Amino acid sequence: MRKKLPKHIGIIMDGNGRWAKRRGLPRVFGHKEGVKAVKRIVSYAAERGIKYLSLFAFSTENWNRPKDEVSALMKLLNEYLQKEINELIEKGVSLRVSGRVDMLPDETRQKLLDAIELSKNNNKLVLNLCLSYGGRSEIIDAAKNAAMDVASGKLTLEDFESKFDNYLYNPDIPDIDLLIRTSGEQRISNFMLYRIAYSELYFTQTLWPGFYEDELDLAIDEYQTRQRRFGKTDEQVKGN
Ligand code: IPE
Ligand code: IPE
Ligand code: MG
Repeated sequence: MRKKLPKHIGIIMDGNGRWAKRRGLPRVFGHKEGVKAVKRIVSYAAERGIKYLSLFAFSTENWNRPKDEVSALMKLLNEYLQKEINELIEKGVSLRVSGRVDMLPDETRQKLLDAIELSKNNNKLVLNLCLSYGGRSEIIDAAKNAAMDVASGKLTLEDFESKFDNYLYNPDIPDIDLLIRTSGEQRISNFMLYRIAYSELYFTQTLWPGFYEDELDLAIDEYQTRQRRFGKTDEQVKGN
């Protein structure tokens, strides 16, 4: 029997700063190498038949970093969108964004929206860039919108729980099956709180710029050894 691939992989891409520091370089060099890792992992995920990839690139809390670092990150993002959009389209990637995009610089937001529009008909891989993203903000935004629909009569309280997913940032993207965090930290740092309720977790010491295709394979292999029970018993799961 062929083993089940995770449909949706989420990655907390951490460790760029430490990667640079270990080489005596400024943090921004780590971010530049981090972009290279993004390119290879996006290509490889598409090749391996992964359908959804969510990359945590910039959190709501990351706005509190030094101004220079924030603007260097925005510049790298602009360059990435400009240089990569054609290749992403060629590879069949459909780009999405999750987060409070209104906080992004105008130029960056516009580039993102253009890239999303240009790639919207692709269906090999959905690449969900999580930018200015916070798991709590996502839940709060969803709850506010759902509450407004209750107030206006569009949503009933009976349906609130079953329809709540529809109010998340990209409602058609399913829950995360496999969550990877690089750099040795074992925490969530406000990533995808709602969609990781039953994710399998994979932590690695590797710093993000040093993350290569073979390690994605390792994470997928590890995922395939796990038994996902979703609260049921072993017997129930095997009986299915
Ligand atoms: C991850 O690397 C990238 C972002 C959060 C933007 P870091 O910049 O957090 O790297 P470390 O954790 O300081 O090594
Ligand atoms: C998480 O990394 C956010 C991203 C990878 C974009 P951080 O480096 O911001 O997380 P903490 O501060 O170590 O928890
Ligand atoms: Mg970090």
